[in-house]
Amino acid sequence: MLTAYDYPTATILSAAGVDMLLVGDSLGMVVLGYKDTKSVSLNDTMRHTAAVVRGSKHSLVVADMPLHTTDTAGTAIRNCQAVMKQTGCGAVKIEGDVHIVQSLVAAGIPVMGHTGLKPQTAEKYGLRGRIEGEAGQIYDEALALEKAGAFAIVLECVPCLLAKKITEALKVPTIGIGAGKYCDGQVMVVSDMIGLFEDFKPKFVRVYAKIAQEIEGAVKHYIKDVHEGIFPSEKESYK
Ligand code: KIV
Repeated sequence: MLTAYDYPTATILSAAGVDMLLVGDSLGMVVLGYKDTKSVSLNDTMRHTAAVVRGSKHSLVVADMPLHTTDTAGTAIRNCQAVMKQTGCGAVKIEGDVHIVQSLVAAGIPVMGHTGLKPQTAEKYGLRGRIEGEAGQIYDEALALEKAGAFAIVLECVPCLLAKKITEALKVPTIGIGAGKYCDGQVMVVSDMIGLFEDFKPKFVRVYAKIAQEIEGAVKHYIKDVHEGIFPSEKESYK
């Protein structure tokens, strides 16, 4: 699983064989330039999810519900139904609690759960579940999310042995981000893994390409060509 936020990226990722595309609320940071994920609106999610659905040919598209859009069962059902109907996505992910997941599933909405670090409500980012009590809470929440009907659960920023224990205890798949190799699947923020977003790099990110450098190189080349009169050529002009 990878995140995607726009049509061209979704087209490439889906054609490359990514099973699931998450229109993460990381959108706020890596696309919209906010300092965290909290300012993403329902309209932002709708617009970007619809674009990703248009680009995805083979991948399940999951919309990440923004902060405060799933606070009560009633609001959650109304907002998730609207997102699914208006964008055509196949499922939603929420950072909200187990009772909300249960209500959404009862209303026929496929829900991906999320435990460990929850950026929407976290005061500080970083590892969760290193201490005994917190590890137990994350373990219990993962089990409760499965019981509530979540079809998969994201484990974010937890020690790999805790992720292993949770993965072994669950029937539904775990999808890890900063949760080590024992999860059933992995998710990364696409802008991190292709080297497009370089403001900061968490420990768990592996950078597979240097797209920011590629773009900078191409743009410098273009500026030079324009300044030197090399672009546009006759071939690139109308008679
Ligand atoms: O918004 C996001 O990118 C996420 C991560 C789990 C990938 O929720």
